[in-house]
Amino acid sequence: MQSLTQPSTHIISTGSAVPDHHIDNYQLKAIIDTSNNWISTRTGISKRHVISSEESVIHLAANASEQAIQNSMIDRHSIDLILLATSTPNDLFGSASQLQALVKAKRAAAFDITAACSGFVIGLAIADQFIRSGTYNTVLVVGADVLSQWVDWSDRTTCILFGDGAGAAVVQSSTRNKQSGILGFELNTRGLECNQLSIKYIPNENYPLGNSRHFNKMGDRNGHYTTLQMNGREVYKFAVSEVPQSILRCLSKASISPKHIDWLILHQANQRILEAVASKLEISYEKVISNIKFYGNTSAASIPIALNEAFANGYICNGDIIVIAGFGAGLTWGSMVIRWDILC
Ligand code: UT7
Repeated sequence: MQSLTQPSTHIISTGSAVPDHHIDNYQLKAIIDTSNNWISTRTGISKRHVISSEESVIHLAANASEQAIQNSMIDRHSIDLILLATSTPNDLFGSASQLQALVKAKRAAAFDITAACSGFVIGLAIADQFIRSGTYNTVLVVGADVLSQWVDWSDRTTCILFGDGAGAAVVQSSTRNKQSGILGFELNTRGLECNQLSIKYIPNENYPLGNSRHFNKMGDRNGHYTTLQMNGREVYKFAVSEVPQSILRCLSKASISPKHIDWLILHQANQRILEAVASKLEISYEKVISNIKFYGNTSAASIPIALNEAFANGYICNGDIIVIAGFGAGLTWGSMVIRWDILC
């Protein structure tokens, strides 16, 4: 139950960006043992965008953010906080500070959120907490990933799935209408299954850092990261079973029935997952936003890209109930219910 004095959190604008270059299923067929038919029917994907060697996750994040800032018509110096949800930073110490510099939001604090495909939902939930507590007024939430740099392009079970992209939303405090904006969320983690989807750091056994006998022999590498490893079947089963339950719990907390959902925007991992979740919730597939055909799985970027496109193309209108849900590595998953209320 919201207090009368507490502000609510509203998405006031969105933006998105993908690299120019894309790879379609037929191009993949030339390098791995696959077919357009297998990829399209099992995943719904036709193509995915990938960055060039001159680009990084920050270029995409900055382009999406710039669009969201311009659409919001706010002064960028009024941004209090930048949350960058990414699992593919170009600096392990965090990339959000680079984004802060590129978008010239000098006043904003900035930090990364590492939560893979759930990252954008978690980012919005964190922004909501800062806004409801009165700590911050304006937050830029960005989901951006470049998994093309982390997949093994000879592994047909994973490389066909992922693409690069970024999506952003400016969220702001409002006391205008307490029955709109972010109405609730719920987040989950099942750490015991972290091995189902991971990019692991493997320390180099020959050069243990604590062992002084070997210290002088240390080469230029202390270890390395693996490429993306995924047990696709298990992650599929997890998503189809847990995501509908999470959405129902989230809706129940907000006292909203599933039949009142206008738009369902799930993490774009597999077309069959989108259909299965909608079916379990008994939601007509017409209410499901899907763009996986054009981008593949863009991890933390998939929900904000879909949200931005759905709004820009006139699908989402003020007053609509939107449910977003992310799921993936961790394993993590989470849902959020929003009543769209944007000042036009
Ligand atoms: O973003 C994080 C969340 N990620 C997800 O939610 C992903 C969830 N998982 C999935 O979407 C699906 O499990 C996949 C798309 C990854 C795989 O689809 P599937 O229907 O579960 O296929 P499968 O792994 O059961 O494999 C079926 C067959 C296998 O051959 P056999 O053993 O039946 O002979 C695979 O080797 O398909 C084969 N296969 C392929 N064949 C052609 C796997 N990948 C390919 C491929 N092209 N690219």
